[in-house]
Amino acid sequence: MTVNAWMNPAGGLRYHWRAFRHGNRLWQPYRWALGEWLLGWTPPEKNLVIVGPSGGYAVQPFLFERFERVICLEPDPVARFLFRRKLARAPLERRPGLEFISDDRLVSHPERLPELLDDVGDAAILFSNVLGQLRVLLEVSSADVPAFARVKKEVQRAMSGRSWASFHDRVSGRLEPSFEQPLLVNGRLSDAEVISVLYSGDGTSFADETELLDHLTEGLFPEALEHAYFVWELAPGWFHVIEGVRAIREAPGESAQP
Ligand SMILES: C[S@@+](CC[C@H](N)C(=O)[O-])C[C@H]1O[C@@H](n2cnc3c(N)ncnc32)[C@H](O)[C@@H]1O
Repeated sequence: MTVNAWMNPAGGLRYHWRAFRHGNRLWQPYRWALGEWLLGWTPPEKNLVIVGPSGGYAVQPFLFERFERVICLEPDPVARFLFRRKLARAPLERRPGLEFISDDRLVSHPERLPELLDDVGDAAILFSNVLGQLRVLLEVSSADVPAFARVKKEVQRAMSGRSWASFHDRVSGRLEPSFEQPLLVNGRLSDAEVISVLYSGDGTSFADETELLDHLTEGLFPEALEHAYFVWELAPGWFHVIEGVRAIREAPGESAQP
């Protein structure tokens, strides 16, 4: 067990502390809205690969009932322990087989992600608030670098031909968003629309709006699909706009279903 796994910049002990402190109150509106949205995602696959579940703070255990195997990619040992315990305690009618993989298959070795999905077979994939963390995990400030392009290519390969969903940070900062969640929109909001629709602001760039941080998720998913928006007050006075996108495996001759 490495110090890095405990102190992962996209999670780690600080994240568990925040979940313990704020999970039942401050995070609750976001958790409910997100949970409902995820329950509306009904992939036909038998198995699920979930990337970055942490302690299962954002995902309701009922989501897992419909799968035979749930394979969790999670480097943090505390998160793995908490997630296993949460699922064991949940009053589920049917329990999936639970497996954990601690080795990286996203940041340093993204090509191992599609390989894993092929090995598991008949698997949907859920990116659990991890793709908006690529900027910290890759230590970049722009998506315009080879390491980011490599991850993006493999993430898209992993989603291809199967059901997938992702919820991820779109922007974050001290400014409080002002919309009712979940907000469902036909197509991805542009940056200017994020400011005008989600923050009621009138700037055109995130820097205009008291320095909102862009989490660099543009271009990861088909923009025309329905997008859902959620507000997550991570800590008092610190807000994330979470964006959700989902699709169900295409049957031959059909286009992706939101
Ligand atoms: C922002 S947290 C979100 C956790 C949880 N899904 C939630 O919504 O509360 C990001 C998670 O990604 C995990 N993570 C970091 N690097 C990862 C990697 N290379 N592969 C898979 N998960 C990773 C972290 O350990 C952490 O649990």
